[in-house]
Parts: sequence; structure tokens; C-alpha cells
Amino acid sequence: MTALPPGADGVPRHVAIIMDGNGRWAKQRNLPRIAGHRAGVENVRALVRRSAEAGVEVLTLFAFSSENWRRPPLEVRLLMDLFVMALDQEAQKLHENGVQLRVIGDRSPFPRKLQDSIAAAEALTRHNQGLRLVIAANYGGHWDITQAARQLAEAVKAGTLEPAHITPQLLAGFLSTADLPDPDLFIRSGGEQRISNFLLWQLAYTEFYFTDCLWPDFDQDEYDRALASFRGRQRRFGMIGEQLEAAHGRETAAPID
Ligand code: IPE
Ligand code: IPE
Ligand code: MG
Repeated sequence: MTALPPGADGVPRHVAIIMDGNGRWAKQRNLPRIAGHRAGVENVRALVRRSAEAGVEVLTLFAFSSENWRRPPLEVRLLMDLFVMALDQEAQKLHENGVQLRVIGDRSPFPRKLQDSIAAAEALTRHNQGLRLVIAANYGGHWDITQAARQLAEAVKAGTLEPAHITPQLLAGFLSTADLPDPDLFIRSGGEQRISNFLLWQLAYTEFYFTDCLWPDFDQDEYDRALASFRGRQRRFGMIGEQLEAAHGRETAAPID
């Protein structure tokens, strides 16, 4: 029997989330923005657990974009401290729960301490077989595609690759998500309806779900609503609905590759 395509059982294999709205959540309560970020981190713990329970294989969270350096320096510094604290506190628990943690993005501008915490958490959880938790930090879709293009250019220059042999599949193999399935479900909290330079390439055929709910309020019920919305979608990947129903008697097509 062939494996069911992603989402055929109604559960997205890969969920990618823009966790937006922490600052506004704090402002509503007359708290400093960093209090919103702290509440946002708290929320991540519950979402990771729920994802594993629901059978999601990969959960990618946008924690800091390549554009977030433009924020006031104090907020950036406090965010870096918060990342270190969260990683150091949570790594062991994630490990005990079989979670494999990985960080994507250009980590070279991060403070040494943060780079060390990332490396330690990745090393600790590397061989785990449970949920794959991907944290996008200093990540940008433009950066990702650019670094892939640079690697291809290097291979062409070295004479190991013919430009004519560059295909979408080949390029995708150089992205920071090379070994992961593309996201099936994209969620953005906080009311904005934009991608903000998140996984540009990888979201080509992802189902989008936007909610006004601010990230610290995005609880299990909100998450379940997003998962339920996904279950109700028909993913056609360019075909027409009748083709899917006739060919397989199911509502979901195989993704493009
Ligand atoms: C998202 O919340 C978290 C990060 C970008 C780190 P925001 O900080 O963008 O919250 P709002 O959009 O100002 O409410
Ligand atoms: C996107 O949120 C990045 C993260 C959630 C980490 P932003 O709040 O920075 O996005 P824009 O700038 O409003 O598009
Ligand atoms: Mg925001």
C-alpha cells in the first residue's frame, strides 16, 4: 500500500507559525513589550505538546526575522536574553519528550552565548525521533534562497554542476529546510495577513490560516480551530476537484515536487 500523501488523514505533517502579536498583547495590559514576548514563550510549550499529540511531524516557529534587527536595540537585546533562557530551560524537557530541535537562519550575528545555547540544544536532541521543532531565528526567505543560490554558484564555478541541471528540486536541496517536507499548514496570529519574509519558497502550496488572536492568547482551542480548518480544505495542487475524487477517492492530492 502506498503511503498517504501529506494531510490525507487530516493532520498536517508540517505546521509553520508566525507567532505575532506579543507587543500588542503587552500594550493592552500596560506592560512592557518584553512581557508579551515572555508570555509568548510560555505559549510555545503548550503548542509543542499539542502538536506532538495531534500527530504533527514538524513544527516550525518564526521567532526572529532578519528584519527584526530594526527594532529598538533594547528590545533586540532582551529578546536575545529570552532565547538563551528559554533554550537553556527547555532543552532538557524537550529531550525527555523525544523532540528534535533545530534552528534555521543565519546565527552568525547572534551573541556567543546564544550561539552556544543553540548548539547545545541541537546536539542534545539530535537523535530524537519525536516531533521535529524548527525555530527560525534571524531567518528570512530571501536569505534562505540566496544562500542556496550561492552554493549552486560555487558548485558551477568548481565545475561539479552544469547550470542546465539546476531544477527546483535541486535548489530546494540547498535550502535550510532541505530534509523537511514543505509546510502543509501556515498559521499567523496577530491579525496581519502577510508572510513577512518567512519560508517564501517552501510555502508555495501551503494552506494559509490567519487569526486576529494575539500570540500569547493563541491557546489549544485556537490551535485546534486552525487544525480543523485545515481538515476542511481540498488541496488540488493545480488539478481540479473531480480528478482527485475520481483517481483516489480522497480529498487530497500529492504535493508538487
Ligand atoms: C512577534 O510579536 C514576536 C517577534 C517578532 C519577536 P511582535 O513583537 O511583533 O508583536 P506586535 O506585532 O508588536 O504586537
Ligand atoms: C514577523 O513578525 C516575525 C516574527 C513573528 C518573528 P513581525 O511583527 O516582525 O512582522 P511585520 O514586521 O509586522 O511584518
Ligand atoms: Mg508583530
